[in-house]
Amino acid sequence: MAKILITGASTGIGAETSRLLAENNELFLVYNRSEEKAKQLEAELGDLGAKVHLLQADITSEIACIELFRQIGELTDSLDVLVNNAGGLVRRQAADALDWQLMQEIFNLNVFSLFKITSLALPFLRKGEKPSIVNITSIASRHGAPGATIYGAAKGSVDTFTRGLCKELAPEIRINSVSPGVIVTPFHDKVSTPEQMVAWAEGNPLKRNGTPNNIATAIKFLIENDFINGESIDVNGGLLMR
Ligand SMILES: NC(=O)c1ccc[n+]([C@@H]2O[C@H](COP(=O)([O-])OP(=O)(O)OC[C@H]3O[C@@H](n4cnc5c(N)ncnc54)[C@H](OP(=O)(O)O)[C@@H]3O)[C@@H](O)[C@H]2O)c1
Repeated sequence: MAKILITGASTGIGAETSRLLAENNELFLVYNRSEEKAKQLEAELGDLGAKVHLLQADITSEIACIELFRQIGELTDSLDVLVNNAGGLVRRQAADALDWQLMQEIFNLNVFSLFKITSLALPFLRKGEKPSIVNITSIASRHGAPGATIYGAAKGSVDTFTRGLCKELAPEIRINSVSPGVIVTPFHDKVSTPEQMVAWAEGNPLKRNGTPNNIATAIKFLIENDFINGESIDVNGGLLMR
């Protein structure tokens, strides 16, 4: 039974990853505001054979991250997998009107929380079985996106962090990332119009946007293949090629 910590597990990609990894595993699932969805997911995962611990935290605060790991420490002294999935665009804003507070919000959510949670997880992962980390970055890191340059820059920091830690943590812990294209999740309810979603689907070589399962299966692959390290896998339907 692997011990797996997933942030942003209440909805979208995180929830689907939890479903895919549920069978015979112990899941530590972090959510923030979507309590009802997290509880529904907990019930669903129990039926799939998972042992589930739901943990509420607003991970944009360092104190909350420390408190989260205090709670995790009461439940376990080891972790085998960390999936740093929580994140979001927060709000689109044109580059000529950048707001300092918005930039802080975006970096707190997508960068500092991920760095801090990874740091706090290391002592647990060092006691785990074949431990590995999977970070969720974004196509926006290399491709840009309208009004989302700061979000793209934040995900670029996650890419750099992933490569840096690959050297720093080897050979004990592997670290990789998945870089989604446009995936249909609640993420876009907040920051994209239906017209934008249609245009992105039409512009994709596969003529559709992705599903959370398209990302979850890539995360599972990176956890299972123990010779992939420091890699970032694009899952975008061919919207952007390296
Ligand atoms: N969907 C896409 O097209 C796309 C593309 C590229 C990259 N991504 C990345 O994929 C990841 C998952 O996104 P998604 O598409 O699945 O979106 P989503 O459904 O909106 O999920 C975001 C998750 O992050 C959690 N979260 C947000 N703010 C938080 C906070 N302050 N503290 C703790 N948790 C917080 C949310 O929890 P609560 O709801 O419980 O607050 C939710 O579980 C993100 O890192 C996103 O940047 C998505």
